[in-house]
Amino acid sequence: MSPSPYYRDEMVTLYHGNCLEIAAWLAADVLVTDPPYGMDYNSGWVKGREDRPISGDKTTQARDTALERWGTRPAIVFGTWRVPKPSGVRQTGIWDKGDDPGMGDLSIPWGSSFEEFYILGSGFVGKRGGAVIRMNKPPVSNRPDHPTPKPVGLMERLIVKTVGTVADPFAGSGSTLLAARNLGRKAIGVELEERYCELIASRLAQGAFDFGEAA
Ligand SMILES: C[S@@+](CC[C@H](N)C(=O)[O-])C[C@H]1O[C@@H](n2cnc3c(N)ncnc32)[C@H](O)[C@@H]1O
Repeated sequence: MSPSPYYRDEMVTLYHGNCLEIAAWLAADVLVTDPPYGMDYNSGWVKGREDRPISGDKTTQARDTALERWGTRPAIVFGTWRVPKPSGVRQTGIWDKGDDPGMGDLSIPWGSSFEEFYILGSGFVGKRGGAVIRMNKPPVSNRPDHPTPKPVGLMERLIVKTVGTVADPFAGSGSTLLAARNLGRKAIGVELEERYCELIASRLAQGAFDFGEAA
């Protein structure tokens, strides 16, 4: 059972709520998502705005339950080496964020300048290439007001290797939904926090733009 959409246009439908209680996203063809990492992420001080933890980020339970419901269909799922990967991973890819060392353990001279993404299931398309995507993190001044927004261009590079309607049940600032729509693909999103649903709706209503930089 799913509630009425929070936002809808001809390509994107967004629901506000818990994706484990809303079934609509399960009707999509491919899952492209960035779930809570299960590492209690806190990005630290962010200039000019209050910093916020990610909902559901104490464990990987939300990720694992969502993936169990998705089954063996194709999926691209972001994650980190700090917590166990989901089961059924066929390939690990890297988003290389450029030279910005980010936050993390400041007692060692290496920062976390990359994130992982995992490929599960089958049915991917397109030219075979390396699994490292280099794209700089945008400056804080040019980011949507969410603790962990992905560049829309990065999500486009992933979605282009898939077919059909895209699901993002952990939609955050909506980058996956914008990227899908930019590529002429339908998308179904779910986001738990209403303030981020508002952000997604306003980004979608303004039209698609990318805030990432190709490195
Ligand atoms: C890592 S962020 C996603 C960031 C997104 N990829 C972007 O580019 O902005 C994970 C998001 O999932 C949301 N979330 C956590 N648990 C959820 C749940 N059970 N159902 C729906 N959304 C959830 C959080 O509020 C957060 O915005």
